[in-house]
Amino acid sequence: MRTQVAIVGAGPSGLLLGQLLHKAGIDAVIVERQSPDYVLGRIRAGVLEQVTMDVLDEAGVGTRMHAEGLLHGGFDLLFKGQRHRIDMAKLTGGKQVMVYGQTEVTRDLMDARQAAGLPTVYEAAHVAVHDYGTDHPRVTYEKDGQTHTIECDFIAGCDGFHGVCRASVPKGAIKEFEKVYPFGWLGLLADTPPVHHELIYAHSTRGFALASQRSLTRSRYYLQVPLTDQVEQWSDQAFWDELKRRLDPQAAEHLVTGPSLEKSIAPLRSFVTEPLRFGRMFLAGDAGHIVPPTGAKGLNLAATDVKYLANALIEFYLDKSEAGVDAYSEKCLKRIWRAERFSWWFTSLMHHFPENGEIGQKFQEAELDYLIHSENGARTIAENYVGLPLDFGQ
Ligand code: APR
Ligand code: PHB
Repeated sequence: MRTQVAIVGAGPSGLLLGQLLHKAGIDAVIVERQSPDYVLGRIRAGVLEQVTMDVLDEAGVGTRMHAEGLLHGGFDLLFKGQRHRIDMAKLTGGKQVMVYGQTEVTRDLMDARQAAGLPTVYEAAHVAVHDYGTDHPRVTYEKDGQTHTIECDFIAGCDGFHGVCRASVPKGAIKEFEKVYPFGWLGLLADTPPVHHELIYAHSTRGFALASQRSLTRSRYYLQVPLTDQVEQWSDQAFWDELKRRLDPQAAEHLVTGPSLEKSIAPLRSFVTEPLRFGRMFLAGDAGHIVPPTGAKGLNLAATDVKYLANALIEFYLDKSEAGVDAYSEKCLKRIWRAERFSWWFTSLMHHFPENGEIGQKFQEAELDYLIHSENGARTIAENYVGLPLDFGQ
């Protein structure tokens, strides 16, 4: 088989890239290790920046998002038992974010790809990338007992943190930056009305909690838990009881509980790979970087990587220029590091770090107090939360 761009991974990054390339008349084949149901079964964050909404619109998959997503102009920070609203819209000249789950984004992209009849190979085993240091890269995989080869001009590594593309790069040609946090997030999804119409980020001596949502009838909550905890140790009742202890009394009273639809523990990590281009192979999305989920930057960064990559490839094919391809890595990394810094800082501010002692706790409370009482402080959070424009600092 021959195509222009072979995309490894059919998560949101790979599917979005496929869609943007298709709109520009560039052929791509996607090769995915898992089944579509498996891909849709992964529950991840659900807050989209304006830039992400714009890219999804451009890709022609924004209709359901606009119909069903919830626009939020602010969120609450809770500490020392009291909630304080960060009025994002007021502080950023009217910017808002869209609450719309990654699962739904992925579903919309899958449907669009299927409707356009574009090729995706699911359940491909032993996917491998070859010869991306030359002008004739290849992707091979096994399916139904046969080995298949895709010859292409470029490989897009959209295969997530555990993918094969980054792993195929020789150690000396890549630098990895990593910080692993000493706790995880226990998440619970339930068909119950959200406790509040906006998100609540809660700092407490018992640990961080987040009250999020997927719709007016579906809630998503998280608790900071030790890395040693197993999800089986947490009954639904234990989860709800602990969440109530970490929320303010009014929220705790209003919290509607119910059976969990999903419950899982995710570790927290900051991770960046440099560079993101290796000859004719590019990394995009979680393949190149991971942020801790505080602030929900993961999907948004993936969307902007992909937008930059699509532009670079369009420039290559339509304008016969390699300038975009050459600039891809640096351009992405500038934006990635900004979001990495914010996600690390917001994580450090909001979580409980027993190893920092009581004085660490006091420092966090004083910083939060400063942030909510200073317009500049509040704007710093708001500006980062709504995200950078696509062409920032270029
Ligand atoms: N061969 C083929 N496909 C693979 C391989 C492989 N060797 N390894 C992984 N994959 C697939 C995975 O099964 C997955 O479907 O690549 C896809 C990667 O998808 P994601 O992990 O969702 O990564 P990405 O598309 O970059 O999306 C980023 O995910 O973790 C969140 O916060 C993050 O929201 C952001 C988004
Ligand atoms: C979520 O809804 O899953 C979510 C929202 C905001 C975050 C992280 C996760 O900061």
